[in-house]
Amino acid sequence: MKVLVTGGLGFIGSHTVVELQNEGYEVVIIDNCSNSSEEVLDGITKITGKTPIFEKIDLRDKPKVIDFFERHQDVKGVIHFAASKAVGESVQIPLTYYENNIGTLVYLLQELQKKDDASFIFSSSCTVYGQADELPITESAPVKPAESPYGNTKQIGEEIIRDTCKVVPQLKAIALRYFNPIGAHESTEIGELPLGVPQNLVPFITQTAIGLREQLSVFGADYPTQDGTCVRDYIHVVDLAKAHVIALGRLMENKNKENYEVFNIGTGTGSSVLEVINSFEKVSGEKLNYKMAERREGDVTAAYADTNLANNELGWKATSSLDKAMSTAWKWEKKVRS
Ligand code: WQD
Repeated sequence: MKVLVTGGLGFIGSHTVVELQNEGYEVVIIDNCSNSSEEVLDGITKITGKTPIFEKIDLRDKPKVIDFFERHQDVKGVIHFAASKAVGESVQIPLTYYENNIGTLVYLLQELQKKDDASFIFSSSCTVYGQADELPITESAPVKPAESPYGNTKQIGEEIIRDTCKVVPQLKAIALRYFNPIGAHESTEIGELPLGVPQNLVPFITQTAIGLREQLSVFGADYPTQDGTCVRDYIHVVDLAKAHVIALGRLMENKNKENYEVFNIGTGTGSSVLEVINSFEKVSGEKLNYKMAERREGDVTAAYADTNLANNELGWKATSSLDKAMSTAWKWEKKVRS
């Protein structure tokens, strides 16, 4: 079975390609390498022994997208990761985000609706909930007005898919609302490669510990949480990757209950910034250089998943602890900088 993974050279995409290959799928990757590199293919091959087909295509180039699907008529499933994802950057260049994240989604769906049977997995985000009124967050929690153009593209993306599935019965789709993906494959052959200064907490921690960054700033110590720092649901990227394979199988085997379904993908456990720092220091034996700083604009106080739907419907559950995930992140950082 041939599956297209857009953004398959990226952090979550590459880990998902590995799990798809482990499951026996033939994988074709489309990536424009704007936030990844072709060398990731070597890492994937070292892990699975199989090199995915790779085509360097920018999904904003509609004729190229049409041509791809004409040449790969046997693609029945698509997992769509390719998108711009920096929250802060999206505020500065909204049109770039709307063109890249929405335009490309429309082009992909226009090709899939031509097929007599198509399965589509969409990379969404817990960002759509904003600061949820109740914790843990269930899939029926209201979607809140987005705090950034990036978050808005995820909300709009879900609506586009939902509206399309309503009138294209042969198109089945699942949106996976990720919480906070962290860590790396235990082989250290693939991992997170943030371009420039990392926006996310865990790569900033490991880059500080390795000496690339001077000091970690903890964005806010006065939140109404147990230790004053923000709480998030940190999920190991391999657990997240496995959820994609299971979700795709659900659609390809026609086990879905609706044409469009949504699942939260998290561990169900919230961890504060200080707890993540303590976990890192414990598993690495390093003393992290950090200071308390001002809150970051747009951050919510706390977000962690109610994972019952994914556990019960998908039969999927995260297995990795925070310590294990932090340990793989540190092993990866040391490998990349060695
Ligand atoms: C986590 C916590 C920060 C950096 C974002 C996107 C989300 C998804 C994951 C794409 C927060 C604190 C961070 C630092 C810090 N991205 N922090 N110092 O903001 O929960 O989610 O990334 O899909 O859509 O919104 O993740 O890792 O940026 O921050 O104190 O140098 O760490 O304030 O509380 P976030 P994050």
